[in-house]
Amino acid sequence: MSIKSEERLSSLAFALGIFITAVYLLTGCAAGGTTAIPSGRLLDDNPSTASELDEGRRLYMMACTDCHRRYYPADRPPGSWKEIIKRHRGRLSLTSVRFEGLESYIIKASAYQRLKDGEVMH
Ligand code: HEC
Repeated sequence: MSIKSEERLSSLAFALGIFITAVYLLTGCAAGGTTAIPSGRLLDDNPSTASELDEGRRLYMMACTDCHRRYYPADRPPGSWKEIIKRHRGRLSLTSVRFEGLESYIIKASAYQRLKDGEVMH
């Protein structure tokens, strides 16, 4: 193979790599990368409730992947989160106010997402 055609081949491979990465990133987001963890504003119109929920969301983003994969709010029905969070109280060092914020966020986000996905809520 001539040097010219090798160069052309490697720039083609490079362009292909960029294309695949772009598609991966774009479809990753569309598949729920962000909507699976909805913002406070999506969950509540009231600005102060929305910002409390965002605080819960922030904790959820930070504290939930230290020990296992991320479980998304909609991975469990809203009604089952209280029990799961209760079992986690001894595992995370958060004040109880923060625990409550985290819990409200996960429950609301689960209800929101499941309703959006057209599932029955329990
Ligand atoms: C200190 C380690 C640790 C952290 C941090 C942690 N978990 Fe867990 N998690 C566990 C362990 C251990 C289990 C398995 C035992 C159980 O189910 O309680 C588990 C299980 C779970 C399960 C499956 C339980 C079920 O009944 O379906 C969910 C959902 C879950 N965790 C969500 C979370 C969320 C949300 C957070 C962030 C608030 C979190 N975890 C943070 C240790 C942790």
